[in-house]
Amino acid sequence: MRSAVLLACLLALVAARPSERPNLHGAQVLRTVPHSPSQVHYLHGLLRQGHYDFWREPRALGQPVDIMAKAWQLPVLKATLDGLHLKYSVMISNVAQLVRETVPRHDGPRAMDWTSYHDYDEINDWLDELAATYPSLCSVEDVGTSYEGRTMKLLTIGTGDASNPGIFIDGGIHAREWIAPATVTYMVNELVTKSDTYADILAAVNFYVMPAINPDGYAYTFTDERLWRKTRSHQDGVICVGVDPNRNWGFHWGEGGTSDSPCSDIYCGPEPFSEVEMRVVRDQITRLGSAVSAYLTFHSYSQLWMYPWGYGYDLPDDWEDLDALAQDAVTALTAVHGTIYEIGSSANTIYVAAGGSDDWAKGVGGVKYSYTVELRDTGSYGFLLPPEQIIPTGEETFEALLVYARFFQNGGT
Ligand code: ARG
Ligand code: ZN
Repeated sequence: MRSAVLLACLLALVAARPSERPNLHGAQVLRTVPHSPSQVHYLHGLLRQGHYDFWREPRALGQPVDIMAKAWQLPVLKATLDGLHLKYSVMISNVAQLVRETVPRHDGPRAMDWTSYHDYDEINDWLDELAATYPSLCSVEDVGTSYEGRTMKLLTIGTGDASNPGIFIDGGIHAREWIAPATVTYMVNELVTKSDTYADILAAVNFYVMPAINPDGYAYTFTDERLWRKTRSHQDGVICVGVDPNRNWGFHWGEGGTSDSPCSDIYCGPEPFSEVEMRVVRDQITRLGSAVSAYLTFHSYSQLWMYPWGYGYDLPDDWEDLDALAQDAVTALTAVHGTIYEIGSSANTIYVAAGGSDDWAKGVGGVKYSYTVELRDTGSYGFLLPPEQIIPTGEETFEALLVYARFFQNGGT
């Protein structure tokens, strides 16, 4: 009897797809809504302790907080919330099953499409293929190598002058936010395969695109741990792996909303730009200089369209310009499928978090129109957004991108 149970356990371990490790069997996401400052304060403490995976961090009174707990943690988490008089509901009752449903099932590489998610190599191969197929519209360059040796590529799209206004787009800085690379590649595909429709835009505006700027982390979510967020760099004498790449940029680095503990999911790294992948992206934005008029970095989830600053509550002097463009973009987005987005500065919309790429792009890179977009959804699936939502997310987000493109095409500055 005992050995039969043991055998069953062993079999279950072997059968588990790699991306389900560590064992998510029985893991759930709970949602709680703090209604007093002390509850918010306490949830922040729980976040800092680092025992739980906060899918959605504490923001403000009345704003939902989503916390994932492994099976063995659930009773403790529930008791903790009860002790705080925090009511909770089960947002995702079976995390393991959702992981299974969103991981692509295949053997060997597949051609690009937007009905399922694609791994890093598939995205890179597709970028090469695009540049080979549409040489008059786009070109691809190898611009760096990740910590584990993956090639990082920059795709440039446009038919006009290199000095035309440009929109720099990236996705996947956080490894588990799969809808980000999927949406970025969707938008690229629209521009390139429907270039006749967008001929005026392509003649007047350039797009600089890096769909997955945390290659090692992203690859790791396909092979080992679906919910990994950080990079995969190692430090001598440190057990925990990786840095939060969106706390690693050299502008107000290490200030609010970051951690100097390497095991934290918001670890800012041993120094600014310790992560080679972020240096690669930084160097491209720097090299392009005044050719970059806007920077859009795609994350998930929460449906937010945010502009600087993230490091603190102050607003940039020209925040009204940034806000107006975001309003127009979100109006176009919502018109497609009715998806609602919130707009505002990062710190005021979610929480203070220093060392983000958007803040650097504006504060150091000199890119006036800098945004972080948190794509779908608002928590029903969170990071495990079903692949059926890739196309609708792509469709609506592309309309928002077109608003940016037309703004610059029409001489907006
Ligand atoms: N969820 C994103 C993060 O935590 C938001 C980043 C917003 N920008 C910022 N500079 N804080 O990285
Ligand atoms: Zn993110």
